[in-house]
Amino acid sequence: MKTKIVMLSEKAPDENVIKEAGKVIRDGGLVAFPTETVYGLGANALNREAVAKIFEAKGRPQDNPLIIHVGDYNINPYVKNIPTVAKKIMNKFWPGPITIILEKTDLIPEVTSANLSTVGVRMPQNSIAVNLIKASGVPIAAPSANISGRPSPTDMESCVEDLEGKVDYILGGENSIVGVESTIVDCTVSPICILRPGAITLEMLREIEDQVYIDPSVLSKPTKDFKPKAPGMKYRHYAPKAPVKIVDGDIDKVVAKINEMVLNYIEQGKNVGIIATDETKNMYNRGTVVSVGARCDIEDVGKNLFRVLRGFDSLDIDIILCEAFEEIGVGTAVMNRLKKSAGFNILNV
Ligand code: TXA
Ligand code: MG
Repeated sequence: MKTKIVMLSEKAPDENVIKEAGKVIRDGGLVAFPTETVYGLGANALNREAVAKIFEAKGRPQDNPLIIHVGDYNINPYVKNIPTVAKKIMNKFWPGPITIILEKTDLIPEVTSANLSTVGVRMPQNSIAVNLIKASGVPIAAPSANISGRPSPTDMESCVEDLEGKVDYILGGENSIVGVESTIVDCTVSPICILRPGAITLEMLREIEDQVYIDPSVLSKPTKDFKPKAPGMKYRHYAPKAPVKIVDGDIDKVVAKINEMVLNYIEQGKNVGIIATDETKNMYNRGTVVSVGARCDIEDVGKNLFRVLRGFDSLDIDIILCEAFEEIGVGTAVMNRLKKSAGFNILNV
């Protein structure tokens, strides 16, 4: 398939391109587009055949439901009942990086919700995304625009790398400003429950709702007793080709430990990558050192994380060692993605 690739300005996206891409969606095609979290791969959420194409293009397991993206607050056609807390979240955080899970109506086909009785709904903020949804005239089902298992794309080049030849259209914009996928909060349960942490944090949700619970699989390795409630969170995910090891503890000890491990790996003839921070990058003298941003600015780390993880795939690296981050605010989302990419391989020093 020939993929049409167009770079757009976020301030004034070309209306003709948006109209054309909107028609592609409405008519059952696939369009990748930027959002503030990560790039998405969109199809008409109400069209079974179109949605099936998303699973095929990504190599995505069929049991992993899609989020629908809407352009206005009237989501009544798609969900059965909107509890007060969900309304509060929509009013406070939409448009923005949060997805709410609600009971779905029959308008949402089984393939979109992977046979669940619920559906995730999000109103993105990115102007290209919003204009595309409006131009299509339908809700857009969109997972992250990566091949399943890889880190999500946060720039157009990564989208092209994963999807060129597999989709009708790729709309490019600026790099995603958040960099990690939306927070997912299940509003069908009481108290509401965070299934995936993101830029709208636990702390922010607690400001509008006293009781907010975090699914245990967000922080720890899933066991037989608790499986992740977001089906997608059970797969090895966000993973670069080389294995990742996280080192956690006081930062001085972490740096010392990583330096010691690097020497051992080099002795074994291995090429080592190090995910460091602006504050620590000069403390490593061997290995391929990449800073993921300033440790004192965790939003910056979130924004760069997937680009850094993907970047190692084009280098000849056998193992990646990574500093841990504190699990507060956006740090919870950063550590959640890092732990998944490392398969929960964490060394405490
Ligand atoms: O920021 C985002 O959410 C991006 C952009 C494109 O909007 N999209 C995204 O979609 O991250 P995806 O498909 O890569 O991740 C969606 C996650 C999966 O882990 C899926 O299992 C979970 O949401 N999910 C979707 N619908 C669900 C539902 N009804 N119940 C529980 N989990 C659900
Ligand atoms: Mg994804």
